Amino acid sequence: KILILDFGSQYTQLIARRLRELGVYCEIHPCTLPAEKVRAFAPKGIVLSGGPASVLAEGSPRADRIVFELGVPVLGICYGLQLMAHELGGKVAKAAHREYGPATIDVKASSPLFQGLPAKLDVWMSHGDRAEAMPPGFEPIAATPSAPFAAVEDRRRHFYALQFHPEVVHTPRGKDVLWNFAHGVCGCSGTWSMRAYAEIAVEQIRAQVKDGHVICALSGGVDSAVAALLVHRAIGDRLHCIFVDNGVLRAGEREQVQDVFGRMFHLPLVTVDASRRFLTKLAGVTDPEAKRKIIGREFIAVFEEEVDRLAAHGERAQFLVQGTLYPDVIESVSFKGPSATIKSHHNVGGLPEVMKLGLVEPLRELFKDEVRRLGLELGLPAPIVQRQPFPGPGLAIRVLGEVTEERLAVLRKADVIVQEEIRNAGLYEKLWQGFAVLLPVRSVGVMGDERTYEATCAIRAIESTDGMTGDWARLPHELLARMSTRIINEVRGINRVVYDISSKPPATIEWE
Ligand code: XMP
Repeated sequence: KILILDFGSQYTQLIARRLRELGVYCEIHPCTLPAEKVRAFAPKGIVLSGGPASVLAEGSPRADRIVFELGVPVLGICYGLQLMAHELGGKVAKAAHREYGPATIDVKASSPLFQGLPAKLDVWMSHGDRAEAMPPGFEPIAATPSAPFAAVEDRRRHFYALQFHPEVVHTPRGKDVLWNFAHGVCGCSGTWSMRAYAEIAVEQIRAQVKDGHVICALSGGVDSAVAALLVHRAIGDRLHCIFVDNGVLRAGEREQVQDVFGRMFHLPLVTVDASRRFLTKLAGVTDPEAKRKIIGREFIAVFEEEVDRLAAHGERAQFLVQGTLYPDVIESVSFKGPSATIKSHHNVGGLPEVMKLGLVEPLRELFKDEVRRLGLELGLPAPIVQRQPFPGPGLAIRVLGEVTEERLAVLRKADVIVQEEIRNAGLYEKLWQGFAVLLPVRSVGVMGDERTYEATCAIRAIESTDGMTGDWARLPHELLARMSTRIINEVRGINRVVYDISSKPPATIEWE
């Protein structure tokens, strides 16, 4: 396994991602990781990431000297290169101007780092300082006219460093460079898999939780599901899953959660039917933020009651499982130390603070697609693994205007049709989300010979990779036509369907 020491680069997690794609297990730790921990990690290689600081600046981040003394290969990237130059006896100076963007380098193919690669490589540079002289033992292995040390090596000590970023897509052969380091230099086999990750995660959970109890708020989504399964594997029935039916779930959601987690995986699962309670609180409320707040507050209240109930049975939970993913973890876990690293999931927002629970976050190191693969590995059924995101406040923010049982029932039927048609068209997994929204707008229609005056349904389909930005999906007209015909014919209460053609930004994905 490879240890990545983070100096705060926005690209650090991409290094991890690329290595994992190559089947090489790696972990990111702050560059301040103490010597004994570095040693205990027993890395086969160490990567020093890039970072925004200058090694010339007072107090700029350093790694412990152990990194260079363990006798394992080291790869410095960008700041990592400058650090190596600076720490090992070379010379770093401010560059006359920042070099940022694409460049073509001439490489020495005889270096293990560039095995099998062409003599010219397109790379992505990004740095303000430059190495003027490398320490004794180092040789340049790639250069550009403006950067004589675009890449360097000290083959005897297995030290390598790059002034460019091999981890970004703008360095098309960067993955090969990383593979050459991990496989060729460090001797990693590239056989790491989600199965191995699961085993490690299980060990870590055991070590953290010891003989404590853990609670988990299952949402029906893939992240909380995978997190719960891992914790269950680790500590068995000292995990307590709670599924809150808040009355604003989609059709069949509650049954699906009970089937999969209760009957299939035998997780200790309590389903709390709190729908009445939520809907009573939501009665008459039309303001989107007010709806969100009510749901968040009620959720915490219901959850706390359940935890107290467990405590009354002598099963007081000390930990809460969260399906926090890597992208949620603030970019630089880095040298600022472990504070301020967690963005609390807005599904269970506020829970850990309110309840003073420790957090178990077994997916902190993973990207969404890795979580999906892990889910399959753990045997989760495809509909859950592939499920599109669904917001914590549920259908309450898709029933615009007042949330009532009747209006929820109407939206549920329309939503089932949208989901079904998207699946039948083979588009479900290509879309970030596809769903129906019930508008507080009525319009006139004619059905048979009858005048109708009924609600409008909007269809929203979004393409996105992370939900931060997105474009409305260019769904085939025939598909839109089928959804519209079916909704108007099959859902009593809707007589008009519109398609949302707004992108994010400036619109958001959800309407509220
Ligand atoms: P917006 O509407 O902000 O949504 O463009 C971006 C993504 O986040 C989801 N979303 C939520 N997810 N709790 C969640 O867990 C929430 O309160 C929440 N609000 C929005 C939304 O479905 C989309 O995928």
